Amino acid sequence: MKNKIQAKFKELFGEGGQLFMSSGRINLIGEHTDYNGGYVFPGAINYGIMAQIKLNGTDKVKVFSIDFNEYVEFGLKEEDKPKQSWACYVFGVCRETLKRGGKVAGFDAVFAGDVPLGAGLSSSAALESVFAYALNELNGNGIEKFELAKIGQSTEHNYCGVKCGIMDQFASVFGKEGALMRLNCKTGEYKYFPFHPKGYKLVLIDSCVKHELASSAYNKRRESCERAAKAIRENHPDVDFLSDAKRVWLDEVRDKITEEDFIRAEYVIGEVQRVLDVCDALERDDYETVGEMMYQTHFGLSRLYEVSCEELDFLNKLARKHDVTGSRVMGGGFGGCTINLVKEELYDSFIKAAKEQFAAKFGHEPKVYDVVISDGARKLQ
Ligand code: GLA
Repeated sequence: MKNKIQAKFKELFGEGGQLFMSSGRINLIGEHTDYNGGYVFPGAINYGIMAQIKLNGTDKVKVFSIDFNEYVEFGLKEEDKPKQSWACYVFGVCRETLKRGGKVAGFDAVFAGDVPLGAGLSSSAALESVFAYALNELNGNGIEKFELAKIGQSTEHNYCGVKCGIMDQFASVFGKEGALMRLNCKTGEYKYFPFHPKGYKLVLIDSCVKHELASSAYNKRRESCERAAKAIRENHPDVDFLSDAKRVWLDEVRDKITEEDFIRAEYVIGEVQRVLDVCDALERDDYETVGEMMYQTHFGLSRLYEVSCEELDFLNKLARKHDVTGSRVMGGGFGGCTINLVKEELYDSFIKAAKEQFAAKFGHEPKVYDVVISDGARKLQ
């Protein structure tokens, strides 16, 4: 990846430039809790996006994507938004940096990545973070790290049409080798948890399903949660987010909200508690409880939040049948991966069965990614 980037940079822009890198993420537990002010438990992974960047002394951005084999040039004013969707991420990061009073001088860039697209591993957050981090360094803006994550999040909101939470960008910016992070999305407080489960492996199984309408379905889930929180707030004014609500408070408003909004909220309130239970279990090295919580999350995401699909439910059931400790759909859902916590001695037989049985049912093998918890946004060399 590095050699390709450097060769292309030289060809297009000549000498110079600095290399930056940022990562995709996994999330052990805490799904769809971030925009509800709850906890998440992500970590950055060894799949990421690398970019070589150099200020070019103009007011233009010139950027080449190796993976899309496409060159795009744009200015830095709001009306200069490019047409290519990948370029909108880079443009959005520039605009959001400017909106925060940062400086963004024109630059040349070439980038490439190995985060599988549409797998729920946040290739888009990796892209936003690598540019947010690099532009901050190259322009000497001194924007603090949490704000860099917010630049990525606002890029999604304002330039890509997804009303996402902060988890992905946070993980991508703050990731640390060997550590998961528990983030309180309401207060921004976070804690690193070294994650080296002895005798277990974390493995992702990619259904390779991608849903076209995922972003509008995602935004709809968020609206349901906001409506439920608003109804609860009428009785309990201190409820800023759904994560502040007790389960019984949701029952109080059952007649005031739709059944759909009710079950969405029911899932979220349960999930907020599960993250805390998992943290306690991790402190005791109790991976059986961690795994059981993961199965409960899957059940909630599938039946209440309705962001799973046939392929992911199949992989989840298969994991249970093969005594996998924990398994669930990961990320926003509507396709992508399951994350599985599996005992080392069961790993080979599980992967073999998953490949064979999935292929027999759906006509293609799922992809398997062994992930390593890695560093987030950084300068290379
Ligand atoms: C996507 C979003 C995140 C988060 C997850 C679900 O990855 O970008 O903010 O909401 O879905 O947990």
